[in-house]
Amino acid sequence: MPSYIVVGGQWGDEGKGAITAYLALKDEPEVIARGGVGTNAGHSVFINGKRYAVRQLPMGFMQTKARLLVGAGVLVDPEVFFHELETLKDFDVAQRVGIDYRCAIIEETHKQLDRSNGHLHDKIGTTGSGCGPANADRVMRRAKLARDIKELEPYLTDVAAEVNDALDEGKLVLIEGTQGFGLSLYYGTYPYVTSKDTTASAIASDVGIGPTRVDDIIVVFKSFPTRVGAGPFPTEMSQEEAERLGLIEYGTVTGRRRRVGWFDFELARYSAKLNGATMLALTMIDKYDKNAFGITDYDKLPRKAKEFVEGIEERVGVPVALIKTGPELEHIIDRRDVI
Ligand code: GTP
Ligand code: IMP
Ligand code: MG
Repeated sequence: MPSYIVVGGQWGDEGKGAITAYLALKDEPEVIARGGVGTNAGHSVFINGKRYAVRQLPMGFMQTKARLLVGAGVLVDPEVFFHELETLKDFDVAQRVGIDYRCAIIEETHKQLDRSNGHLHDKIGTTGSGCGPANADRVMRRAKLARDIKELEPYLTDVAAEVNDALDEGKLVLIEGTQGFGLSLYYGTYPYVTSKDTTASAIASDVGIGPTRVDDIIVVFKSFPTRVGAGPFPTEMSQEEAERLGLIEYGTVTGRRRRVGWFDFELARYSAKLNGATMLALTMIDKYDKNAFGITDYDKLPRKAKEFVEGIEERVGVPVALIKTGPELEHIIDRRDVI
């Protein structure tokens, strides 16, 4: 698969960071490009017991041989960008990162508006990262672009050209989506959504490749989906139930407690269909069946976990190729060769 896209199938935070990190190290893509909205996304990953979080740079940063690109569709917050160059300096990211010169910029005023506007902050429950207001300015055609910011100059590039050239040369390109299907401006639970489409087609456009250039689409689902912010969540469970099941989580960007629910097969089926999924990834199966923790061989999964995976494959109609069984990178079952 010369090019593949990883996207979220629920309301974000499905564990795309952990899946992407695994793929980045295992498959050794030469190019890793990030699509999606912007710094509203938070991805975290455990590497050798240490937690790393990114909001702006590609989550595949730990693959030190890869070029790291931020596509033109992604909003750039220079403050977050430079902060991450610093926090990830062990991985030599500054030498490898490229930002498309057409990325729109998140300014302080966007962040202030996102945090003070009643509709955005109180009703929708946005992340306060300034993404919605920055995208609004972009649509009004008055947003600044990365090419207008002097400090970003050393990192500017034509991401679309780089990605297409890499594909022409037969290189492996890993493309990262952010947020999740239920947060899509078009297909999600409007108005409780983010400021752009979040499906695989949008992610391809964000990095500048046409639909014919995408070989595989991996849609990531979490065994117990979560949602932060307001909006419908048909399978939501009570806070007490979530506590009883040990499912308490807090957001990477906002620190807000995540609402938790049961796996929604209908949503999963619809989301896989509209994303054009060729494979699924399932995370947090150890939360569903604690005996699944750390298992790396599908045949060794306990019956309860296996039945869950088979139920998803049957009802969604797409094979579950990757299964995360714990927080560390090696806690994963990779069945891509048998599906
Ligand atoms: P995305 O936004 O989709 O990237 O998810 P996220 O990174 O926002 O989720 P979060 O920040 O909550 O991080 C998920 C954490 O759970 C990371 O530290 C992962 O290492 C960890 N994790 C990922 N998959 C599993 C899993 O299958 N089981 C357990 N126990 N932990 C996991
Ligand atoms: P915004 O994208 O900051 O405008 O927020 C709009 C909605 O999307 C809110 O409900 C946010 O909580 C949600 N959201 C945006 N990005 C993410 C994400 O990366 N993970 C989870 N929820 C998100
Ligand atoms: Mg997240």
